[in-house]
Amino acid sequence: MSRILVTGGAGFIGSNFVRMVLSEHPKAFIVNLDKLTYAGNLENLAGVLDHDNHKFVRGDICDGELVEKTIDDYELDTIINFAAESHVDRSITGAKIFIETNVTGTLTLLEATRDKNIERFIQVSTDEVYGSLGPEGVFIEETPLSPNSPYSASKAAADMMVQAFGHTWGVKYNITRCSNNYGPYQFPEKLIPLMINNAMNDKDLPVYGDGLYVRDWLYVYDHCTAIWQVLEKAKPGEIYNIGGCNEKANMKVINLILSRLGKPETLIKHVKDRPGHDRRYAIDAGKIMSELGWKPSVAFEEGINATIDWYLENADWLGHVVSGDYQNYYESMYGDR
Ligand code: NAD
Ligand code: DAU
Repeated sequence: MSRILVTGGAGFIGSNFVRMVLSEHPKAFIVNLDKLTYAGNLENLAGVLDHDNHKFVRGDICDGELVEKTIDDYELDTIINFAAESHVDRSITGAKIFIETNVTGTLTLLEATRDKNIERFIQVSTDEVYGSLGPEGVFIEETPLSPNSPYSASKAAADMMVQAFGHTWGVKYNITRCSNNYGPYQFPEKLIPLMINNAMNDKDLPVYGDGLYVRDWLYVYDHCTAIWQVLEKAKPGEIYNIGGCNEKANMKVINLILSRLGKPETLIKHVKDRPGHDRRYAIDAGKIMSELGWKPSVAFEEGINATIDWYLENADWLGHVVSGDYQNYYESMYGDR
């Protein structure tokens, strides 16, 4: 039976992972350690918060004493690190917290992994550590790290720290590098939920630059199943890219959302570009497919429709999330853009 410390399990991907594991892997026991930053939300865990195989602990992954006590108290044998500051735009306006959580936090978890003899440490990383692509080519696991934003630089630093702990102390790790996720419970600072929320409310849709930037979209459930396959089947020290073979220009995604919601294209507003904006990401996920037998199960059309339906049906969740601080964030990011 896996006894797993999931960090950041009240965020978007972490909460989807907790829900997937509790429903599909009844022998797993999860302790969910989350600081509940602006991106963490116990409402993301509705229906599973009090599950017998789930315990929630509020705390910071930079707090080594708490991490070690939690591992001891619950006799944990595995760590999956989702906790992070995750939004590129926020890293451009303030990078320090990205170093604290993404680098120092990962280091703290690695020290506990080493000292408590944790059997496996999985670092949930990102394709952004590889930098940006031109019109051709894909990222493979051997692509050199070349991060461009403070966010991706912090994630690349964390990946290298994980490898250093493997090399120096024999920590058994895997690193996963996934492309852009979308689906239920995503905070509306990221492209898809932000555009859905604005379109639902007849607000302008702020498209950075020409809108022809390309991302490789994966439905969040498929990212979660990929991480589970890595946990169950991967040899220690292996790195896996995860992606959906689903490249789309931002304008294409936005037009799909508008047409599904029956809203006019006149809502689209091109605004000042993101500084240092990566042009294109594309993932070769051949290694995880051939070695571990993983493949995505949700096509983009199906996933985007399910996502839009989820936001329409969860107006309370959305209302809570966009009240208060979100309004200040939105004004500071988009007010005079
Ligand atoms: P998110 O911002 O939705 O959630 C992050 C969670 O981490 C929140 O619950 C937050 O409260 C928690 N957290 C932040 N700082 C913490 C700290 N110091 N201690 C404990 N908890 C803390 O992020 P997400 O989109 O769910 O991303 C999860 C992970 O997946 C991140 O590591 C991210 O880099 C990676 N990733 C994300 C994507 C994507 O498209 N969203 C794609 C690839 C990889
Ligand atoms: O590739 C994986 C990464 O994907 C993850 O590691 C990050 O945590 C996640 O945030 C995401 O990063 P991106 O920067 O690609 O995602 P974001 O949703 O912020 O932006 C997607 C694209 O949409 C990008 O080209 C910028 C553009 N965009 C975004 C917003 C929020 C807009 O044009 N307008 C917007 O308002």
